[in-house]
Amino acid sequence: MLEVIVIGAGRMGREHAHAISAAGDEVIAFLDPDLTRAESAAAEIGGEALAAEADLTGPLERLTRRGASAALIASPSVLHLAHAQAAISLGLPVLLEKPPWVPGQDPEPLLAAARQGAVLAVGMTTRFNPGVQAVRNAVRSGALGPLLFASDRVAFTLGPGDLGDWYFDVRRSGGGVLVTNGVHSLDRLGWILGETLVLRSVRLSSGLFRSCEDTALLELSADGATVQVTELWGPGPVPPSELLVIGPRGSCWTDSEGNWRLSSVEGSRSEDRPLGYSEILEQWRAFRDLVLEGRRSSVLPGIEELWAPMQLLEQAVHW
Ligand SMILES: NC(=O)c1ccc[n+]([C@@H]2O[C@H](COP(=O)([O-])OP(=O)(O)OC[C@H]3O[C@@H](n4cnc5c(N)ncnc54)[C@H](O)[C@@H]3O)[C@@H](O)[C@H]2O)c1
Repeated sequence: MLEVIVIGAGRMGREHAHAISAAGDEVIAFLDPDLTRAESAAAEIGGEALAAEADLTGPLERLTRRGASAALIASPSVLHLAHAQAAISLGLPVLLEKPPWVPGQDPEPLLAAARQGAVLAVGMTTRFNPGVQAVRNAVRSGALGPLLFASDRVAFTLGPGDLGDWYFDVRRSGGGVLVTNGVHSLDRLGWILGETLVLRSVRLSSGLFRSCEDTALLELSADGATVQVTELWGPGPVPPSELLVIGPRGSCWTDSEGNWRLSSVEGSRSEDRPLGYSEILEQWRAFRDLVLEGRRSSVLPGIEELWAPMQLLEQAVHW
């Protein structure tokens, strides 16, 4: 059983903590500068509530001496790098929320730690979506033939309070919709297609939220095929989030729920999201397999795998 420190007791920290318990592991502490949040999470899920200081080394050291065996990091994005470094330096295996770092930060110390054997996985959670996995299987099995076209759209309607204020403060988030959601698209397109993505054009707009980009339109190429990425935050109805890959022998599509449809010359298949399925829980199970058995699932990327999508992100924000 893993004894886990959860850093950041917000929406994702709590969701991960529920998955950690459901997998049979134990959350031993929630660390958050907002002690009320940490206390409410601890009351609901278990463990101790601790007020996070600017430097987490002290509390992490004490918890590690008392038996902590892993850390889950779900703090605001700009803090991911420092929090992961603090946990890794104590020898704790880390599951780090995305983005693992933000444009402008230098991830080299973390990459070096991974090269030296630190256990550091990144929560690119949508890779665990059954529809995303079905699209990858369709591409990798050759069912679609060579890639002609791929399109990934992630779109959310954001009402007041749907996301914490920090998401719209670039100093704390590192960027808007491209940095927060686009990292999923860039990561999974590379993972699905198995091709190097090359950026061809970028359009970012901050017309609605003003403080950061709320619309990102990217055109890329992958081995000669066209790849489009659309990221949207809107105040009202937005088009559905979906992923589509087309080849000369067929096409495969999924929505954000994980419902998917494959249509190819070899026949058609489709599935709806399995009842009770949880990406966050499957992701945690893959992480605990890595920590306890040393078994790495290709669905759970190490930090080094994020280098390519993060380079694209860096290029796109400076386009
Ligand atoms: N994998 C996914 O699909 C997915 C989905 C949503 C969000 N995320 C990522 O998860 C992270 C958290 O997002 P959220 O929606 O839960 O945000 P949130 O605002 O709900 O929670 C963040 C928490 O971190 C706390 N915090 C702030 N400074 C801290 C510090 N120094 N130490 C410890 N905690 C600190 C805040 O008080 C807050 O409780 C973000 O980086 C986001 O990009 C990932």
